[in-house]
Amino acid sequence: MHRLCYFLLFLNILNIINSCEYVQNIAVKYKRHFSASFGKISINNQCISELTLHVPDIKTIVVKCGQNKLSQIQENFIGNISTLEVLKINHCDIIRIESGAFANLPQLKTIIIENNPLLEHIPKGLFNQLSLKQIFLRNNRINSIEDEAFANLPSLTIINLSNNNIRHMSKNWFTNTRNIKNVFISNNKIQQVPQEMFSGWRYANFFDFSSNSISIINEDAFKDVASTIHYFSLASNNLKQINTTTFPKNFIIDLDLSSNLFNYLPHAFLQNINVRQLTLTANPFKCNCLADINGALASKGVKLYCGFCNKNKAHCKETSIPVCAHPSQMEDNCVESVDDEATEKLLGFAKELGYEDFKGLVAECKKNI
Ligand SMILES: *[C@@H]1O[C@H](CO)[C@@H](O)[C@H](O)[C@H]1NC(C)=O
Ligand SMILES: *[C@@H]1O[C@H](CO)[C@@H](O)[C@H](O)[C@H]1NC(C)=O
Ligand SMILES: *[C@@H]1O[C@H](CO)[C@@H](O)[C@H](O)[C@H]1NC(C)=O
Repeated sequence: MHRLCYFLLFLNILNIINSCEYVQNIAVKYKRHFSASFGKISINNQCISELTLHVPDIKTIVVKCGQNKLSQIQENFIGNISTLEVLKINHCDIIRIESGAFANLPQLKTIIIENNPLLEHIPKGLFNQLSLKQIFLRNNRINSIEDEAFANLPSLTIINLSNNNIRHMSKNWFTNTRNIKNVFISNNKIQQVPQEMFSGWRYANFFDFSSNSISIINEDAFKDVASTIHYFSLASNNLKQINTTTFPKNFIIDLDLSSNLFNYLPHAFLQNINVRQLTLTANPFKCNCLADINGALASKGVKLYCGFCNKNKAHCKETSIPVCAHPSQMEDNCVESVDDEATEKLLGFAKELGYEDFKGLVAECKKNI
């Protein structure tokens, strides 16, 4: 009787352990709570769980693939480790991750899945751990994120999606996840910030949206986050125009709009804005519009970086570099309109000087205006 029980238990354990046949000789490093050094085992045909590792009190797990790649991460790849706080899977050439891959990790705070140049899709329900605080998904090739992919994570404070191929953002990614402070989504291909993208967020603080292709910021995009945000970069995007109400009056932040395609900023926007610091470097402002910007903001005590220069003083000595573009039509005052011809002229100038775009073109605006 006893023997049969043990035999059945043994079969049962085998059964659990053998449900990840696709895992072939993957090195797993782990660290216990209160331990300084890592232990190491190699797993074969096994999912990673407390049972597999035979080690209590595991805090950190690092999956290192080495020669053997993990092209698919299937359901139950890792689970049932009651003490795990940090999970890192890096350089594994992952192509696909199934939702349910990470199950029953009640203490998990940080998940890092990075440097997988073939990973394109993030399914709904992948991150279903209530205690998650940080999600790092940098340097993959993510181009599709299902709605609710990051839903129901009340403790999430940081999400880093930098260096991927993301084109569309959706506010439904974050259903019932409202306590995020820092969003890093630089170096993607985002074209628009959707309407009410962050509605209901309470603690938004630091947003880096630089180096995307953003040309449209929809109405009320920043509704609810205006009064809490401290730093916001939209540098190196394709913005030509900005709506007056995009940044509400209570936005008291460092705002970086450098390296966009602005020929002007609307007078009403300049009146309304209340930022502490505004970086406008490397935009093809029409000259009379740049003068207006300087005038409007100087009186507000806004620390302003404009023209084509701030930090790189060495380059600024080059006097042949223009600070702004002359409008294609004669204008007595700043006309609030996009002037592609003026932009092209200035860009041509930059190229003649050997710069690929405005980012490289620098001149000292304060001196020359
Ligand atoms: C965790 O436990 C569940 C239920 O016993 C089981 O179905 C699953 O395979 C286990 N996961 C791992 C990775 O061992
Ligand atoms: C997010 O990723 C970017 C790009 O790698 C990096 O500059 C930034 O510091 C990261 N943020 C955090 C909180 O790790
Ligand atoms: C300004 O807001 C309108 C209405 O929401 C929108 O259609 C337009 O694309 C916005 N413009 C920019 C440059 O974001």
